[in-house]
Amino acid sequence: MSVVKPFRVFNGKVENKATRIFGGVASGISDWDDIKYPALLQINKEMFGEYWIEDEIRLGEDVKDYRQKLTEKERYVFNVVTGYLTQLDSIANRFNFLLGYLTTDPSVAGCIQLIASFEGLHNRSYQYLTSTMLNDAEKRQAFNAPKEIKNLMKRNDIIINKIQAFVDYVEDIMCGKAIEEESKLYKLLYEALLAYIILEGLFFSGGFVYFHSLARDNKMIGSNNMINLIKKDETQHNVFYGLVMQILMLENSSLNTQDNYDYAVNFIKECVDAEKEWAKEIFSDIETMSIREYENYIEYLANVICRNAGLSDIYTDNKEIKSKWILNYGEKNGEHRATKADFFQTNVINYSHEGGEGFDL
Ligand SMILES: [Fe+2]
Ligand SMILES: [Fe+2]
Repeated sequence: MSVVKPFRVFNGKVENKATRIFGGVASGISDWDDIKYPALLQINKEMFGEYWIEDEIRLGEDVKDYRQKLTEKERYVFNVVTGYLTQLDSIANRFNFLLGYLTTDPSVAGCIQLIASFEGLHNRSYQYLTSTMLNDAEKRQAFNAPKEIKNLMKRNDIIINKIQAFVDYVEDIMCGKAIEEESKLYKLLYEALLAYIILEGLFFSGGFVYFHSLARDNKMIGSNNMINLIKKDETQHNVFYGLVMQILMLENSSLNTQDNYDYAVNFIKECVDAEKEWAKEIFSDIETMSIREYENYIEYLANVICRNAGLSDIYTDNKEIKSKWILNYGEKNGEHRATKADFFQTNVINYSHEGGEGFDL
């Protein structure tokens, strides 16, 4: 049941419905009436329904705001945050390419293709933002930030290393440098997916709140409108990948262990801590929001990731958003969506405790 195998566009000897999302078989005929997880059709439609392009956003006032209303520090933070959002979207775009290649389920592939196209659009949006407002030096500051700022690199490396470890192993198998070991492959996939969910749901969404805080101060409204379009997409991606994680656990019961549960909790905490450390550096002297507000929001986002991926909340003090302005300026539809527990009409994840009880969705 290998996961990394020669890519076939058609196999007339098997069913159209995939047997598994990774490492299975399917004919290659994409019949949306005959898919293993019908919820994916709805997700696919919802993503299509959000289609937009960056040119719809007007930035005329923002050009003036950037020069006249933002302080020097606010401009610097605007550049750096835009730079790292670009980096994360670039990674997302490329990683989706690999996952889309590996999945054996045409409905999963269909969703991943859409997500990858949105990530490409997001990259173009940051280009639109920066090329409209920034001069050459500022633009270099933005796009080189992920290669130059130590704490930012430290934060990003935690997730990039996990994603790259999976990519490297797949590449080694493809090149014949390694023979696929099932347990190693799934462990690396599990860890990479978790890292990717944090990339989308924590490091991205955290960055957005700076734009909301400027908008609350009546600055950079167009930029914030664009960020909200991106954020809405990312929220859908979080739901989709949370679901992929749940299906992965359902189809591979060997991943349902206390060790993996503990790993996930510890990894999320490590990322939250790194994010807080980075926030203290980048958002110091920013008056549109406080570090404390940001930290509470990050803990809230970590809880949302847990809910989407079938884990219990980690930060019980932040089950809800404390700073309501984040909702007012950050989203039209209220709070982040979490995966509906009834997608499968059953609880699929049952990480086993030593005591034998399970974590429910
Ligand atoms: Fe994105
Ligand atoms: Fe995304």
